[in-house]
Amino acid sequence: MAVITCIEDLRRLAVKRVPRMFYDYADSGSWTESTYRANESDFGKIELRQRVAVNIETRSLATKLVGIDAAMPVALAPTGLTGMQHADGEILAARAAEKFGVPFTLSTMSICSIEDIAESSKKPFWFQLYVMRDRDFVGSLIDRAKAARCSALMLTLDLQIIGQRHKDIINGLSAPPRLTLANILNMTTKPRWCLGMLGTRRHTFRNIVGHAKGVGDMSSLMTWVGEQFDPRLSWADVEWIKKRWGGKLILKGIMDAEDARLAADSGADALIVSNHGGRQLDGAPSSIRALPPIAEAVGSRIEVWMDGGIRSGQDVLKAIALGAKGTLIGRSFLYGLGAMGEVGVTRALEIIRNELDLTMAFCGRTDIRTVDQSILMPERIA
Ligand SMILES: Cc1cc2nc3c(=O)[nH]c(=O)nc-3n(C[C@H](O)[C@H](O)[C@H](O)COP(=O)(O)O)c2cc1C
Repeated sequence: MAVITCIEDLRRLAVKRVPRMFYDYADSGSWTESTYRANESDFGKIELRQRVAVNIETRSLATKLVGIDAAMPVALAPTGLTGMQHADGEILAARAAEKFGVPFTLSTMSICSIEDIAESSKKPFWFQLYVMRDRDFVGSLIDRAKAARCSALMLTLDLQIIGQRHKDIINGLSAPPRLTLANILNMTTKPRWCLGMLGTRRHTFRNIVGHAKGVGDMSSLMTWVGEQFDPRLSWADVEWIKKRWGGKLILKGIMDAEDARLAADSGADALIVSNHGGRQLDGAPSSIRALPPIAEAVGSRIEVWMDGGIRSGQDVLKAIALGAKGTLIGRSFLYGLGAMGEVGVTRALEIIRNELDLTMAFCGRTDIRTVDQSILMPERIA
């Protein structure tokens, strides 16, 4: 059994255990992938101030995200097709997050449904909403999230149209996977994955099939998905969704201070500085570069969080220092899930927590809620 010391170890194991089509789906960005790469590499340009002879014996990473207790300022990001990284992936990730004490966010485009997660978890989880042309369906998703007692709704604003990822086209990405000769050959090298998939009935988008009008099987589903993401999405829709939902609302995909002001005006509880993990507008800045001006512009009016490129607890600390109240991790937990299921997600969270705790201590701080820019060297990003 491989020794796991960091997120990169989990990634390496996931490459071995997850069929190429689904591993590539997670580990890719749009077009040249320059934003995807910058999300990670820009963290490396930020230097930390080492402090000594400070009493760091008792430390706390606990915080609140939109008023909800979290063991550390990290939540699991919504990711589509998570149940294809590992059988019943969303259920396993939700369980790991629940036991760890951090929020789990279920994607609209998940394999396990809202009801599947509600049945298998004890604490409330979060639901991420994509706005579809069929507003009755959007309304019904909101109602289902309410019935499942979700404690926050995360509305994604940056996917009205879809950025092209070359690998998904080459691999012919679909759920369930198309059984071409190349796919079958690749899957025979992933016996654990295949066994898991044989043991579950959850193989397609269960929030949608049987719920959206006219979607009963795979081919009608693919047509529906292709046509339904709504390019007309506007701030008026945000208002409608806020009213219909009536609970905590988080707006995801803000990269510009002007949009951040509109997000704050909308009365949402939090916004997430995010470029969708480098999967939408290639050529946009990294999220960590986009964060400081947004935190500066609206941080006193709305909780500002960020995601994109977080592969360590050090990255989380840097984001907090630059003004984020919370962070989301996408690939870091997906690699853990693909590598080892629920245990792997727990391992990813432990790795991040330990790195965050020690790094905060090396910087001479004992409470994550007091971390600010003063833990960074002045020239932060080149
Ligand atoms: C495989 C994958 C699927 C994703 N699916 C969704 C989704 O369904 N909804 C959404 O709002 N964001 C989605 N995202 C974006 C994530 O929520 C998050 O913004 C991103 O993963 C953060 O970057 P990181 O993976 O570098 O941590 C997805 C990201 C990945 C990697």
